[in-house]
Amino acid sequence: MPTRVRKAVFPVAGLGTRLLPATKSIPKEMVTIVDRPLIQYAVDEAREAGIEELIFVTGRGKSAIVDYFDQAFELEATLKGKGKSLDVLEPSNAKFGEVVTVRQQQPLGLGHAVWCARHIVGDEPFAVLLPDELMLGKPNCLAQMVEAYERVGGNLVAALEVPDSETHKYGVIDPGATDGPLTEIRGMVEKPAPGTAPSNLMLPGRYILQPSAMRALDAQEKGAGGEIQLTDAMAKLIGNEPFHAYRFDGERYDCGSAAGFVIANIAVALQREDVGPAVREFVAGA
Ligand code: UTP
Repeated sequence: MPTRVRKAVFPVAGLGTRLLPATKSIPKEMVTIVDRPLIQYAVDEAREAGIEELIFVTGRGKSAIVDYFDQAFELEATLKGKGKSLDVLEPSNAKFGEVVTVRQQQPLGLGHAVWCARHIVGDEPFAVLLPDELMLGKPNCLAQMVEAYERVGGNLVAALEVPDSETHKYGVIDPGATDGPLTEIRGMVEKPAPGTAPSNLMLPGRYILQPSAMRALDAQEKGAGGEIQLTDAMAKLIGNEPFHAYRFDGERYDCGSAAGFVIANIAVALQREDVGPAVREFVAGA
């Protein structure tokens, strides 16, 4: 039985330039999908998958993310005084010691952000969730991955098929043998030049990694876009320990882009019992 995954790293130190000007003063992870910030969806996903420690890799201007998970005594007292329910705040109240933060002083890339959490992660497997990638599924994406990880161990990354014309935007895997949703990984490349991708299976931002991934990141090598890439560090682990891609059952929304963000809002709103009917009526008439 592989060691249980208890810790999750949330890299939230990026600049979010695709959502400017909003992200000039609001962290991308705090923009709302209906009435909850993006980070709440990622944290819910992690908790439901059994994660006990939430590690936020933050940067300048990102303190709103950490404040959000504090208990807001004045707000609670006001709501209570008005006879209103506090249930709506429940998911945003972190348990004591559940949230740990570390800073990435410069946005040097996703791999560098993950590496900044190395001392907190220590010598155990860990999950990485990119909160701007919203995953909807039942069970959720990370929970599906944890279930598969408990069978195969090693490293496991979520994978998703995209049209060939889009592979240059993502980390892409070179697939080996496939068994149901699991595919062995023979190689991976970050943002391959158009027409050179080894497949159309991209990495949408959910990972379960062994501590060896942190050691691979120690080299601090720059890759695509001059950034320290997680994909490059993971590629070094292939062949040393099991490495699988997991095709999860569900939907993925790239909320880091304006169109993806709007589409995610509509998709989530349509699924909600409270706001769904009004939004459905509006969309039908548009
Ligand atoms: P993205 O490339 O999607 O985020 O990184 P970004 O750089 O913030 O956005 P754009 O492209 O400028 O619009 C994926 C994830 O990695 C984090 C981001 O916060 C995001 O969750 N990240 C990226 C870091 O934490 N540090 C970095 O140096 C880079």
